[in-house]
Amino acid sequence: MAKVTIVGSGNVGATAAFYAAERNLADVAMVDIAPGMPQAKSLDAQHCAPLRQYHVNIVGSNDYAAMKDSDVVIVTAGLPRKPGMSREDLVNINAKIVASVSKAIAEYAPNAKVIIVSNPLDIMTYVAWKATGFGVRRVMGMAGVLDSARLRYFIAEELNVSPSEVQALVLGGHGDEMVPLPEYSTVDGIPVTELIAPERLEQIFDRTRKGGGEIVNYLKTGSAFYAPAASSVEMAECILRDNRRILPVAAYLQGEYGIKGYFIGVPALLGKNGVEKVIEIPISDEGKAQLKKSARLIEETIAKLEIPL
Ligand code: LAC
Repeated sequence: MAKVTIVGSGNVGATAAFYAAERNLADVAMVDIAPGMPQAKSLDAQHCAPLRQYHVNIVGSNDYAAMKDSDVVIVTAGLPRKPGMSREDLVNINAKIVASVSKAIAEYAPNAKVIIVSNPLDIMTYVAWKATGFGVRRVMGMAGVLDSARLRYFIAEELNVSPSEVQALVLGGHGDEMVPLPEYSTVDGIPVTELIAPERLEQIFDRTRKGGGEIVNYLKTGSAFYAPAASSVEMAECILRDNRRILPVAAYLQGEYGIKGYFIGVPALLGKNGVEKVIEIPISDEGKAQLKKSARLIEETIAKLEIPL
């Protein structure tokens, strides 16, 4: 049985552990520094096994050694934002946490593929890449799957069609500058631009861009967790089962889309080696301009990093 470790047993981490178990994806290790928390939640999840019909092992520990020999590590550790905060406001608080977790990954799970969920997402993925010393294809960030899922849902809601029949693509950084691409959004193969008027589509895009913030404003003390957890498990499944799907992923770019040297959301082929390939597709001039803006925000936030890497 393959093994997935989920670092951080807060709402996102605990939910991801549960979803991974429900799919019988791999044995699950939950790791968190909070005493008792991963132990409690893993035990609770074990008790669900006869009801939800899974048969994987689930363990919880405060010791990073529990991630030993993981095939995939999902990093959710870090603080969530509060109302009024941008994801970028978290950069130096979470960089320290993600860097120390990443060093532990390099020590205990040197062959793992790493999926970063902590915010600000694209920058934390960069931190994890630097701190693990892993090859660029084994480190990636979860955001495009989440942002695209939000867009898919809003399109389905608008048209009263099944959400699973809607495909949509959101690229760029996981910030309010993310880039929804109408030209790659379809309902059963029909371009969404044929089904929804441009002004209405723009409103839907805007709600998608602010989708995380809308939930933070309701919750006050935390951020979304069901969809972020489901998105990270979707990626882990693709890697663990070598599904070779093309998903929007924060991947390291080496000149694709005119970007070089950091991570940003682009379509990527995911398989057993992690990011098997970055897919470069033509995008509209408007999309290109938005992507540039989103990339600039990532560069500016990387420049604010205060930790040595
Ligand atoms: C969101 C946070 C988790 O988009 O970034 O909900």
